[in-house]
Amino acid sequence: MSIKTETLKNGYEEIAKPALFAFKDPETAHKIAMLGIRTMCSTPMGRAVAEAAIYEMPTEPTTVAGIEFPGRVGLAAGMDKTGKCAKYWQIFGFGHAELGTITVDPRKGNPRQRMWRFPKAEAVVNYMGFNNPGVDAFATTLQKHGIKRGNLAAGIPIGISIGSVATDPEEANKEYQQLLEKLHPHADYFVANFSCPNVSHADDNHTSELIEAMVKKIRELSNKNSTEPTPLFWKISPDLSENELLRTLEITRDKQVAGIIACNTSVELRKQLAPDLPGGLSGRPLFKKSLEVVKFIRQRDERIPIIASGGGMEVDDFKRMFDKGANIAQALTGFIFHGPALIREINELKKIA
Ligand SMILES: Cc1cc2nc3c(=O)[nH]c(=O)nc-3n(C[C@H](O)[C@H](O)[C@H](O)COP(=O)(O)O)c2cc1C
Repeated sequence: MSIKTETLKNGYEEIAKPALFAFKDPETAHKIAMLGIRTMCSTPMGRAVAEAAIYEMPTEPTTVAGIEFPGRVGLAAGMDKTGKCAKYWQIFGFGHAELGTITVDPRKGNPRQRMWRFPKAEAVVNYMGFNNPGVDAFATTLQKHGIKRGNLAAGIPIGISIGSVATDPEEANKEYQQLLEKLHPHADYFVANFSCPNVSHADDNHTSELIEAMVKKIRELSNKNSTEPTPLFWKISPDLSENELLRTLEITRDKQVAGIIACNTSVELRKQLAPDLPGGLSGRPLFKKSLEVVKFIRQRDERIPIIASGGGMEVDDFKRMFDKGANIAQALTGFIFHGPALIREINELKKIA
């Protein structure tokens, strides 16, 4: 690790993290951090200072589902649910940023407190419940930032995670179609988030039809613009049984889904760490499970693009994700616990896997 990365690491561990972790509700810390990032990076001077302190160029460009990712580790969904920091994630050295999850209507989500950190275990439990500004406000933000599919206005590819809380499959379908229609100009890739444990979803039996309708809609929208269809990934739960995973693979191939994001947060692991709380667990205790899922998928399908998510807390975790067959990976809880130095350290390696 270079001196610069070590300084950044120490600065985070000794100054920024204690200040942020002093807020008992991690959501308050998150709001302050996001405001800090926006305030700092939105002026040319602030951005230049942030870049000088933090940025290390990703060095492993990788093409997945037709998208060129400049680096192999990106930001997972849930950190930037409004898109307001979309243009700043590149400064941290992320190779992509996934925004959202976005629903048709604005949602407050579940009542606070709905996020808890477990410093010893390096875990977070969240029960946010799809809090987001709604598709219209979100699209306006991306428009303001000039973020359009393929134009790399954010410096890195931008994925948009979309979701619905409708349990009626027809209603859910309608909502997904609206989300795709309104966000199609802005997304380098889409993610169908059917696996959030904190909201209701249409019955699993309808997943296949919903996905099929989404793929069809994306094709129509892309045809109109004479472009290749925007890749659609779907994000799965780490709590799926082997049979459910096999079914996921079958649907992915049959319906021509671009790939799988493995995984979302885990209810099973949350029950072990915090039986009295609601929600799903992320962070270190999730790593073993998400790695198993990546391995399971790769052993059964050599080609399906896999974006690994879950418990990447240190450089070695990401190495192992790639070793087991992930094409690219994402961080969120690792970023909360270890800060920007985690991504810098990965990029400094020049080649991680
Ligand atoms: C506070 C919080 C909010 C999240 N919100 C979303 C979300 O809106 N959509 C989504 O697909 N995943 C969401 N996630 C899940 C993450 O994207 C990621 O898949 C999960 O946290 C596991 O990765 P990690 O251990 O690196 O955090 C959220 C996670 C956390 C901790």
